[in-house]
Amino acid sequence: MTRPARALICLAALQHNFNRVKESAPASQVMAIIKANAYGHGLVHIARGLPQADAFGVACLDEAISLREAGLGRPIVLLEGPFGADELPLINGYCLDVVIHTAEQVEILEQAQLQRPLNVWLKVDTGMHRLGFEPAAVPGIVRRLGAIGNPGELRFLSHLACADDTADATTGQQLDVFHAVLQELSGARSLANSAGVLAWPDSHFDWVRPGIMLYGSSPLSGRTAAELDLQPVMTLESELIAVNTCPAGARVGYGGDWECPETMPVGIAAIGYGDGYPRHAPTGMPVLVNGRPAALVGRVSMDMVCLDLRSHPEAAVGDMVTLWGEGLPVDEVAEKAGTIAYELLCGISRRVGLDYIE
Ligand SMILES: Cc1ncc(COP(=O)(O)O)c(C=O)c1O
Repeated sequence: MTRPARALICLAALQHNFNRVKESAPASQVMAIIKANAYGHGLVHIARGLPQADAFGVACLDEAISLREAGLGRPIVLLEGPFGADELPLINGYCLDVVIHTAEQVEILEQAQLQRPLNVWLKVDTGMHRLGFEPAAVPGIVRRLGAIGNPGELRFLSHLACADDTADATTGQQLDVFHAVLQELSGARSLANSAGVLAWPDSHFDWVRPGIMLYGSSPLSGRTAAELDLQPVMTLESELIAVNTCPAGARVGYGGDWECPETMPVGIAAIGYGDGYPRHAPTGMPVLVNGRPAALVGRVSMDMVCLDLRSHPEAAVGDMVTLWGEGLPVDEVAEKAGTIAYELLCGISRRVGLDYIE
């Protein structure tokens, strides 16, 4: 017997969500964003599960090398570029593409002896003020990058700050800045994240960069994944490892935060914050026991949660508990825990086994 906490990863749902990208942005190439272990879903399996992706976006060299060593030959983009000059030989050796967003990174390229052409995505700060060159600096940076030895293709990207809110004026302003700065420059362009793919067609350009929608979570505030026809890829499950009958007044879990209002069955499921389940999940958080609703009570422990089983009098040790996924949207769980689905999915600990199903 192994500990029953596991995440089922449905590759058919992944493909369905990828098809939603293609339906929404049919003329664009797709850079699938698979950083942070593919948002917790398993880097290599997810890359292999996206045979039509034109490129992959990752956050660091380790992620890119894992993909290459698993035999993935398609373009891989380091979204934050090289973190230092020492990374360049490997970047070049593994044929990786880089985002360049600082003057320091331009200098690294100017001083490098590149063995083969290096494709560069120049990042423009169109208003998010996180990464990228301010628009006025872009023509000068383009000239400098054009002069490096062994240049590959030069492309342009920027990132949307508020695209989840379709009423927010920021996205329109960012689009205007992107158009203006690239008017005189040639090269492929990319702006759209998942929210851009689904809600902002003007942001599609040559490449779209979906992340969260591939995994079946909604990128748009006020819209559910089901409304957007996205399917959950990860279903986080465990099992009941104890079912106790507790008397009225019994206090359950750390701090005795929750008190049984009557004599009742309390289930213990083997999942906790050590697995990535949110410690701030409140009493009343929905879970499914054998596919039917139940609720969490008391504080989340490192490896366990306590469940109110009054609506499951037949529940027994070994019964299945679903924490999110099929039948229980991760967005709903995230909202009730005061966070976002990105954090929950990425936070899945490596001790939770990932099981892939077609
Ligand atoms: C540069 C860049 N592009 C695209 C994405 C994908 O964003 P989303 O997961 O919201 O689609 C990210 C994710 O943070 C990103 O950093």
